[in-house]
Amino acid sequence: MQLQSLSQDQLQSLEVELAAAYQAFQEKKLSLDLTRGKPSSEQLNLSDALDGILAGNYKAEDGTDCRNYGGLDGLPEIKRLGAAILGIGEDEILAGGNASLTLMYQCVYQAYELGFAGPESAWRHEGKIKMACPVPGYDRHFTICEAFGIEMVPVAMTSDGPDMAELEALVKSDPSIKGVWCVPKYSNPTGIIYSDAVVQAIAELPKVAGKGFLVFWDNAYAVHDLIDQPKALANIMNLAKTAGTEHSIVQFCSTSKITHAGAGVAFLGATNGNLATFKNSLCVSTIGPDKVNQLRHARMLPDMATLESHMQKHAAILKPRFDMVLKYLNDDLAGTGLGNWESPEGGYFISFDTLPGLAKSVVKMAAEAGVKLTPAGATYPYGKDPEDRNIRLAPSVPSLAELETAMQIFVLCVKLASVRQRLSA
Ligand SMILES: Cc1ncc(COP(=O)(O)O)c(C=O)c1O
Repeated sequence: MQLQSLSQDQLQSLEVELAAAYQAFQEKKLSLDLTRGKPSSEQLNLSDALDGILAGNYKAEDGTDCRNYGGLDGLPEIKRLGAAILGIGEDEILAGGNASLTLMYQCVYQAYELGFAGPESAWRHEGKIKMACPVPGYDRHFTICEAFGIEMVPVAMTSDGPDMAELEALVKSDPSIKGVWCVPKYSNPTGIIYSDAVVQAIAELPKVAGKGFLVFWDNAYAVHDLIDQPKALANIMNLAKTAGTEHSIVQFCSTSKITHAGAGVAFLGATNGNLATFKNSLCVSTIGPDKVNQLRHARMLPDMATLESHMQKHAAILKPRFDMVLKYLNDDLAGTGLGNWESPEGGYFISFDTLPGLAKSVVKMAAEAGVKLTPAGATYPYGKDPEDRNIRLAPSVPSLAELETAMQIFVLCVKLASVRQRLSA
């Protein structure tokens, strides 16, 4: 169905047909939810062995009694796992509490208030501070910026990662841009993996940016593949070391979507110097992380091979859900010009771009037919999608049957909103 090729009469009868189907769904009074980028209970069940796994043995491999205070940067055995996930050295990692988001917030705090290279390097001394935000992106990154009054400068995303020509030009011309948020693998929400060329260019970026520039490398989906032979992400820290920019890279990941989302272990990867600085301020607010939980994780996931086979069990649950979403998009909307999307091979999201000006209407129409979607605009700084196009679909929580109905409604709403827009043009 190419709307441009339809006459006004054809458009009108199509509208009547789609509106009738829409009304039939409304009458069913459904309550479906595609908003939540969190694991389903079935996925959480995969890690229930955590409960009781210590069986009274609280000793870490270095003899630490994990029930006690201390060990600010985490247990060696869990740091080893975090270092392997991020592809960095075991001396370049800190294992913290349950949320990488907290570590991101604390790193922004460190850079903004305290400085990573001495107090005089704190961003706050330089007046108005900005951060580059590839869009669409992760709303909680934007919320951290807002909390510090950091102005967000959007940069377009491509299928290879941020548009590097745009990003380089921005940071070159504006030294008040002090950082960039990156979700390099199965990006939230577009699901793409940054290409080798983009990772290389990001490793070089601090050389052309103002002083104190930081790359926030949020590798939340580092091991969250849905296919057997996933594309590899280039190693930012190795490239940064070659470029001499390693002190400008701070990396994050967590077990939130590996084990129990609210009770996992988060990691910060950075140079020895940056970690030492970070720990100097971290020790003001804590004597140490929850090492009992870290030990539970290290016992359940002692190495990457175990982690990988654990992630295959997640993929077996998630992949059919992604396939269901993509089937409806491909069968009903491919070739129509009514939207664009990527086909992610991992992560938690599928991102859909409607025709300009329709995302809000599609979200509203879907809600009125019983399908809750992430609010349009949430994937943009300040909640403002300038073209009102992007909708984030999160298929992990609903059952397959629920997802199927939700997608029938979603594609119907996209078609109906597009036809109505065309009719009113
Ligand atoms: C890109 C990204 N980073 C971080 C998080 C949250 O991670 P954590 O649970 O470790 O705070 C999420 C959760 O959806 C995410 O999508």
